[in-house]
Amino acid sequence: MSEFYTAKVLDHVHNPRNVGSLENANVVVQAGDPGCGDALVFFIRIEDDIIHDIKFLIKGCGAAIATSSIATELVMGKSLDEVLKLNDQKIAMALDGLPEEKMHCSNMAASALHAAVQQYRSTIAGETAPVG
Ligand code: FES
Repeated sequence: MSEFYTAKVLDHVHNPRNVGSLENANVVVQAGDPGCGDALVFFIRIEDDIIHDIKFLIKGCGAAIATSSIATELVMGKSLDEVLKLNDQKIAMALDGLPEEKMHCSNMAASALHAAVQQYRSTIAGETAPVG
């Protein structure tokens, strides 16, 4: 695996950040990859459009663990508009790259975070999510 992944990926695989659940989460989102059956849950505390805290639980491959872990670091303390700018490419770049065949794994974290913003805006914040 070490010649396959960057040092940053391996660091997050072996020492994932922000693992677990969050008792005071006000948004909980799940994402799954139907191709491999892997799944991810984010527990997020959002206040005033800012991510105050985030944790995750996952059943997935090394790339899925690393991308979920670094995604929590990338969005911690960020506004929801900034979260929406995060995508699978940016997550992979933050890990110094992923093998092409593992790019789909980084999409789980990105799509779950976008769903979290939609969920917050359409329910808790009482706003209607933008169409399109
Ligand atoms: Fe399933 Fe990576 S192989 S998320």
